[in-house]
Amino acid sequence: MKSHNIVSLIRKKRDGESLDSDEMRFLIQLYSRDVMPDYQMSAFLMAAFLNGLNDDESASLTREMLHSGTVLDLSMVPGVKVDKHSTGGVGDKTSLILAPIVAACGVPVPMISGRGLGHSGGTLDKLESIPGFNVNLDLKRYVEVLKEHKLVLIGQTDEIAPADKRMYALRDVTATVESIPLIAGSIMSKKLAEGIDALVLDVKFGNGAFMKTREDALSLAQRLVVIGEEFGKRTVAYLTGMDQPLGNNIGNWLEVYESIECLNGGGPKDLLEVTHLLAGTMIYLGDEAGTVEEGIERSKAAVQDGSAMQKLRDIVAGQDGSTEYLDRPDDYPAASHSFEAAAGKDGYISAMNSYIIGMAGVELGAGRKSKEETIDPAAGIILEKKIGDPVKRGETIARCFTNKEVETDTVRQMLQDAVTVGSFRPDVPALITDTVTRDGVTPWS
Ligand code: URA
Repeated sequence: MKSHNIVSLIRKKRDGESLDSDEMRFLIQLYSRDVMPDYQMSAFLMAAFLNGLNDDESASLTREMLHSGTVLDLSMVPGVKVDKHSTGGVGDKTSLILAPIVAACGVPVPMISGRGLGHSGGTLDKLESIPGFNVNLDLKRYVEVLKEHKLVLIGQTDEIAPADKRMYALRDVTATVESIPLIAGSIMSKKLAEGIDALVLDVKFGNGAFMKTREDALSLAQRLVVIGEEFGKRTVAYLTGMDQPLGNNIGNWLEVYESIECLNGGGPKDLLEVTHLLAGTMIYLGDEAGTVEEGIERSKAAVQDGSAMQKLRDIVAGQDGSTEYLDRPDDYPAASHSFEAAAGKDGYISAMNSYIIGMAGVELGAGRKSKEETIDPAAGIILEKKIGDPVKRGETIARCFTNKEVETDTVRQMLQDAVTVGSFRPDVPALITDTVTRDGVTPWS
């Protein structure tokens, strides 16, 4: 690697020029080795935030963050390894449902997930609501569990993309998170390190998502697909709406509960539609179906014949968890307090602010206000109404559960503020709007 001057490279980016791959390598490697201090990396990140990164810079940033740690080799595990990543939302529990479905269909799923972030939940916290479930497997056991069950569900270890871990923490405190190329590099460096062959992305947009508009979500999805394909991984992205929570349950155990309902053949329509699409695409990319449509049929069949639910039992037991509540979910220790939020007038639910609903969940203990806070697994919200449903004044719109002494009036008010009741039946916001592949963008029909 050629030597460069750090200040000159920051200046170059600040002035809107682009860095070549050698220059990007220099910066990330020096930062990884603690030669470049946080204040210089912060300046670089702000310059990248303001001036953007082109496709080549994005690819080299991703490559350097990826190679800052271990890149897993899963070639000893037979089959095409496929994972799914969602950019995050409220009530998004698709991973819990599709991971056992896809593995039951014969496609190995090595999944490294995150914890809740602000208003949005995280798969790891949800899995940990199952007593004993161990998300902290070392990389040796990660491979063993994957070989045995075709599925493994863990958290990001210190070996996976450590440069991203540090840069993400810096971005969080320097107002540089909301940048499409920085988000794309951050997500893809972690996903590429898992040892996958193909990836399905659920890029969410709307009031409960990172990307507020379809246009921004489309730019992010295109960037993610370009990076994935450049690294030789088949990558398919869907744009899905987050202008209301997905499904009805928000909160860790409550989301596992709703996932069990789905795996037992029930569950809400919106959640099932997104889950089977993502699962069907994974099954297709994993070479266990000839088309996405056939993949979706296989996904539904794995629910109907019980093999997906059995796979969930197997992986919970395989990662040290208790299967007791999977078969008797109503026996799960109930939250000590529950209360309801009601509609203020007659009409139809015309809008929902998913961000506020997510924050109401955090108030109840389903998420963290600071990194140190612990999660209350039983806390959360069950929505009794979604957009388009008729309501009467005083009728319950949401039920809340917590083990904390919370200001019930505050949470109730948040939920009432988050839910708009109008006089006319509204159009329900689009759930799936576009598919993005290496061949381009196709609007959903
Ligand atoms: N998730 C990530 O992993 N990185 C980002 O930058 C944003 C969301």
